[in-house]
Amino acid sequence: MIVIKRKSIFFQVALVWCAGLSPVLTQETGEELYHTACAACHGGDGSGNSVSQLGFLDLVVPDFTDCDFAAREPDPDWYAVIHAGGPVRGFDQMMPSFGDALEPDQIQAILDHVRTQCTDDRWPRGEFNLPRALFTEKAYPEDEVVLTTWLDGGEQNTFIHEFLWEYRFGAQNQIEIAMPFQVTDFGGEQGRQGGTGDLEIGLKRNLSYNMDTGNIYSVGAELIVPSGDDALGFGGGTYKFEPYFAYGKLLPADSFFQMQALLEFPSESEFEDEAQLRALLGRTWTTGGPFGRAWTPMFEVIASRDLGGGGDIAWDLVPQFQVTLNTRQHVMANFGLRIPTEDEPGRETQFVFYLLWDWFDGGVLEGW
Ligand code: HEC
Repeated sequence: MIVIKRKSIFFQVALVWCAGLSPVLTQETGEELYHTACAACHGGDGSGNSVSQLGFLDLVVPDFTDCDFAAREPDPDWYAVIHAGGPVRGFDQMMPSFGDALEPDQIQAILDHVRTQCTDDRWPRGEFNLPRALFTEKAYPEDEVVLTTWLDGGEQNTFIHEFLWEYRFGAQNQIEIAMPFQVTDFGGEQGRQGGTGDLEIGLKRNLSYNMDTGNIYSVGAELIVPSGDDALGFGGGTYKFEPYFAYGKLLPADSFFQMQALLEFPSESEFEDEAQLRALLGRTWTTGGPFGRAWTPMFEVIASRDLGGGGDIAWDLVPQFQVTLNTRQHVMANFGLRIPTEDEPGRETQFVFYLLWDWFDGGVLEGW
């Protein structure tokens, strides 16, 4: 078997071949451009030529006909890779840059053609995978691991660390499991103590999305299990069932709106049913050029109300800032404050921070 060294012979051939792309400029449709510029590696139908055909040693050419992969990649990310080459998103340089050979509208026309290669439109598009807020659940079903820390500024100096795992299955569904671990400083002899909080198990299903209007709608439910360390008073002490509705809206200029309406039904009668509305506005900016690091300030508001006694609505304001940490942009952090508008015992300002890894897009150490 002849093994061609990647980045050497083949790469030089590819460079020479790309440099000869000028005739492309006279072609018109995205499909024609695709066949001239991309099909040699990505295959005529987009499924990707095999490693042996191409002579790459350890690279898999992505399969654009696989909706599970293709639908979740938003146009701006693919545009960046086509324009500036694989390394702009932490991919291999075997994926050449076409920014010099093709005009922006030609790249867009090719991209529109590539989009026809996944033929099952039940898979919501990655454009709807909006930046994750600290409290509002996204409408988009996703594959993520999120480590969140809450720090209560109150007298007891409480930390809660939560491990959340989200797994997408089928075109529209997602399950999630969250396990918190709490550390509280009780002072005196008891001192600092740690223990588990309440386990959460959730299910989400996308109902519909529309790329033209920029709307996505989903429903879901969570079951909260009172697994918290009783002796330390951690956790809510009751099972809770939380059905919800989630909505996302793409707005002009890289801004967006997200909303989640949820009800909370505790199994024990001494706890009240509650309704909560969570909503936020955000906008993404990039630094280091148009394809650089993404910064997303968001302003989130939470309104909660007990359903039993008809009490007042409690408001929390949650200013926050998400930033992508690596080149692939699948590892992110978010910092924020949850600020109650009224001072009440047990409702102190919290500092909230998460680290998020979108694990479908690659290992946590890939693409830096
Ligand atoms: C010389 C071979 C080659 C050519 C020509 C080529 N690609 Fe690629 N492309 C690759 C390889 C290899 C990868 C995967 C890189 C990796 O996984 O590190 C890739 C990755 C991509 C990705 C990123 C997919 C993801 O994982 O998010 C997109 C989008 C893409 N190519 C589009 C195109 C388009 C459109 C064209 C034509 C304008 C094109 N490519 C031409 C080899 C090529």
